[in-house]
Amino acid sequence: MIRRDFLARTLSVAVASLFTRNVFAQHSMHGMSGMSDMDDMPGMSSTHADNSHAAHATPKLAPETALPAGAPLAALRKLANESSEAGVFRATLVAQPVRRQLMPGRSTSLWLYGDAAQGPIVGPLIDVREGDTVEIRFVNRLPQPSTIHWHGLPVPPDQDGNPMSPVAPGASHVYRFTLPPGSAGTYWYHPHPHMMSAEQVFRGLAGPIVVRAADDPLAAFPERHLFFSDLKLASDASIAPNDMMDWMNGREGQFVLVNGARRPRIDVAQDERWRLWNGCNARYLSVSLGGEHTFTQVGTDGGLLDKPRDGLTELLLAPGERAEIIVRAGAQASAAILTAVTYDRRKMTMTEGKSLPADPAKPLADVRFVPGSPGGAARAVPPTLRPIAPLLPGTDNAADKAPQKSVVFTEAMDMTAMHRPGASMSALPPGMQFLINGASFDPSRVALTSRRGEVEVWSIENRTDMDHPFHLHGTQFQVIGRERGGASTREPFLAWRDTVNVQPGETVRIATVQRDAGDRMFHCHILEHEDLGMMATLKVV
Ligand code: C2O
Ligand code: CU
Ligand code: CU
Repeated sequence: MIRRDFLARTLSVAVASLFTRNVFAQHSMHGMSGMSDMDDMPGMSSTHADNSHAAHATPKLAPETALPAGAPLAALRKLANESSEAGVFRATLVAQPVRRQLMPGRSTSLWLYGDAAQGPIVGPLIDVREGDTVEIRFVNRLPQPSTIHWHGLPVPPDQDGNPMSPVAPGASHVYRFTLPPGSAGTYWYHPHPHMMSAEQVFRGLAGPIVVRAADDPLAAFPERHLFFSDLKLASDASIAPNDMMDWMNGREGQFVLVNGARRPRIDVAQDERWRLWNGCNARYLSVSLGGEHTFTQVGTDGGLLDKPRDGLTELLLAPGERAEIIVRAGAQASAAILTAVTYDRRKMTMTEGKSLPADPAKPLADVRFVPGSPGGAARAVPPTLRPIAPLLPGTDNAADKAPQKSVVFTEAMDMTAMHRPGASMSALPPGMQFLINGASFDPSRVALTSRRGEVEVWSIENRTDMDHPFHLHGTQFQVIGRERGGASTREPFLAWRDTVNVQPGETVRIATVQRDAGDRMFHCHILEHEDLGMMATLKVV
């Protein structure tokens, strides 16, 4: 294993040249320089970008107050169903460059699903039911290939927007799948093209999905949706390109948006069910309403827990993760700040073997509790939400007898590659490697093979010096337990997940099963790491 201090030392030496030559040349190569609005038009990008931006240093960023705050939380746009047949959801999603005024008096070029001329800069909500057949025509009006990946949904592998099935600029593609019973939950969709996912997401391409069950025990609660995304704007309001630190730690902008807006206001007049999406490229969100305002977790990525988890003051959502919580209006008026509290994910620095200090707490939204008529607002959460059968019933024994798979995260630097002539022409900063089982993603290589229907135990081990969120496509898994520094903890509750954080030095064990034959991806959901190759293919036979 090549250690972090080596990475840091190497970077500090190489950063000056790598920064200007490679990162910006790379952006230009894709015709995606965020510096100019003109680059967003398909077909008129690269040559223009090549000469005008190659020498730019990190642009000056807009101040954190550049975006207005305090507006009431916007409801998500809903994707319209074009079908009138029962049980069929048919719609069109166009990915395209869109110009919006986010900073007063200045326009920002985003890439969005739908034109979003009005309303939040988040992809429209796909609101569907178990049993529905979903047919979505994707039209790619971006200057790059793209795909739509249905993060967390059990869709057939050939419908899942794998990087191996790109949709060319100007082309379209119909994705089709049927939502099985038991799939109710909180999902999302985003692009997954080879080496371009991070950029497409940070330019605005991501949206929420809710799958509903006919027999939802919490159907009586009013629902609120909070889709968190991250935005990094230069002082001229353009979307800043990734710099070296963004590639290394994953990109975090100066803005965290909730349904596309900075620090909105939320009035809670009765007990509510909140669905939370961490749609940020790399930002960890440990959400809290402060010590006095506890909440109840009722769901994870793949839907309801078997039992509610009461009295929480904090809930960590790694990039890609979702949760459902019940927020109570309380008995009298009060206020709280929905905050991403400090969580140390051990971000790396450019200097000798040191981590960055953890980020300070960040306010996400201002919440006012304004309980209405006494008694009318409070709703009971049933003590049992739905049965969840363990994938491996019994004890550790069952887990030990199941087929085992091992996934190991490592990091490495390759000085030779970094300084090879022509390195500046490559698509991503060369030499900075985030690896799975010793290898960087190769679309033609199968890393692991599983049999469909067979429950397996995967051990995901993080031998790097920073946190990485592990994500597996096509299924929901159950965390069995975690091991770190010789201490092991069994997962205290049953839950369906598709994304789980793995801390440095930690091994997370999950029980998982795939239902369809075909290729599935698994990767780190820090999208910069994914683009840099921290991804692999699981072949299901
Ligand atoms: Cu949300 Cu493979 O991704
Ligand atoms: Cu996914
Ligand atoms: Cu990672």
